Amino acid sequence: MSEKSDFDDWVDQIQKEIIEEDLKVYSKKVVELFYNPQNWGSMDDWKVNKSSYKGPCGDTIQFFIKIEDNIIKDAKFLTDGCGATVAAGSMTTIMIKGKSVNYALNLNPTDIEDALGGLPEEHKHCAILAINSLKEALRNYTK
Ligand code: FES
Repeated sequence: MSEKSDFDDWVDQIQKEIIEEDLKVYSKKVVELFYNPQNWGSMDDWKVNKSSYKGPCGDTIQFFIKIEDNIIKDAKFLTDGCGATVAAGSMTTIMIKGKSVNYALNLNPTDIEDALGGLPEEHKHCAILAINSLKEALRNYTK
């Protein structure tokens, strides 16, 4: 096993500085989920309910939701949006997995934002984007 080089130390230091800058703007939970997204990815199964929702900012978030007997068995997401959207998509999937379709239908952007420890004013729409896309996927199931 090789020892850490000066280059590795330099990379660690840069990463630390970037995260410290992010923490000046975002909550700890947002930064954690941005750097370590949960339930990132897609599902191909024909039974999966899919959505793709583009917000006014031009970013898109997609949800892939597997439902059995009205219970959300699995949920994944993808986005080309900002870090706050990655965090909002992660939190949304975390909150709905194992819950009923009705529970998910009643979630609103404030629930996601609260669970994330808040979002800066200019990124509140990222939670709206996540919820709109979630509801589109659920609509595909309920209709
Ligand atoms: S989704 Fe567009 S800025 Fe976050």
